Amino acid sequence: MRAVDLIQKKRDGQELSTQEIEWLVSNYAQGIVPDYQMSAFAMAVYFKGMTTRETKDLTMAMVKSGEQIDLSAIPGVKTDKHSTGGVGDKVTLNLAPLVASFGVPVAKMSGRGLGHTGGTLDKLESIKGYNINISQDDFIKQVQEIGLSVIGQSDKLVKADKMLYALRDVTATVDIIPLIASSVMSKKIAAGADSILLDVTVGDGAFMKTIEDAEKLSRLMVDLGKEVGRKTIAVITNMSQPLGRSIGNRLEVLEAIQIMQGEGREDVTNFICDLGQLMLELAGVSKSKEEIKEHLVSGHALAKFEEMINRQGGDLIDLYRPSSAEVQTEIFAKTDGYITALPALEFGLFAMKLGAGRAVKTDQLDYETGIIFDKKVGDSVLAGERIAVIYSSEDLSENVITEFEKNVKIGKEQIAPEEIIKVIS
Ligand code: URA
Repeated sequence: MRAVDLIQKKRDGQELSTQEIEWLVSNYAQGIVPDYQMSAFAMAVYFKGMTTRETKDLTMAMVKSGEQIDLSAIPGVKTDKHSTGGVGDKVTLNLAPLVASFGVPVAKMSGRGLGHTGGTLDKLESIKGYNINISQDDFIKQVQEIGLSVIGQSDKLVKADKMLYALRDVTATVDIIPLIASSVMSKKIAAGADSILLDVTVGDGAFMKTIEDAEKLSRLMVDLGKEVGRKTIAVITNMSQPLGRSIGNRLEVLEAIQIMQGEGREDVTNFICDLGQLMLELAGVSKSKEEIKEHLVSGHALAKFEEMINRQGGDLIDLYRPSSAEVQTEIFAKTDGYITALPALEFGLFAMKLGAGRAVKTDQLDYETGIIFDKKVGDSVLAGERIAVIYSSEDLSENVITEFEKNVKIGKEQIAPEEIIKVIS
């Protein structure tokens, strides 16, 4: 077989066979097919798409390109969750300990943030000492013993996705459904959990800009998971504004703690409870919303979170430390009304420029920077009332403050944003 023939076949809109896809992925992972040919292939897929069968073959070929984790030594239904990316998305920090606090094991491998989106690993690494690189044996042992671990994905897992994602990122081929579905599901399948909750974000700050596309991606990923015997459910969630109060690594850890102390915003607290209920149900555990909320806000989830942080070397005093960002700039409303929009993409990029995110993979983060919003879409504001505080390492110029202010939309009509748009099972 020759890569050029497979690229041409896809370019001309034909369907590739299982053997052809396996050949391409395996030879790419081994360094035989070069990056330039794989980039051309990704672009051909971008324009011509893939059938469901091809996407499944691509997913399984990627799974086979690296190690697979065997979690069978851990008793019970092992659970995992994945978000397709968001701004201010600290859900894992709450959801993982919440589910584990009910005795359901959570074995989770997380990723780093890129561009306007944040990553759970970066948030956890803002806690002094927290080790995201524990060995696979220690990961399994920890989940056996305390029911929870969140680590970084090993380099040996789904090698082809690591290589292909890096290419897609620089060749404008990220936002295409078959490539996202195979990328996400290959990682989830290789990571070994029995049940998987997929948080498919939609809106300005997400890869999926329309609900129709989010539904297509969800359906495909749920079917891929089920085909290989994993209980899989997708939840389409709103990413038109940042999630919760904060954007930025340290600030988001602190918000996650506030939520677990019963001091979070009600909308985000309820959202986490809804996801918790779905994740527990998927693992065969039926709990009422009241029981779940009780676990989330009155110490059970926080105790589990602290146990995980401590076990992975994190400093429990540093965990509660406020942001040490040098400068805090308050932003005030200029008129009365309601917040009608806080575009997630714009604020994600704004926080990235403060140092909270990476423009390119090699960028160093400033964990302390970010934004805390006092007001979110649907909230009423009075002229002169504080809307947000920007945490930065240096003074902000007038231009930067104006850029921030212009993205806060205030109108006369109240809008009620919905967090969960649809569940696909
Ligand atoms: N998240 C992933 O893991 N892969 C993608 O392709 C997009 C989002």
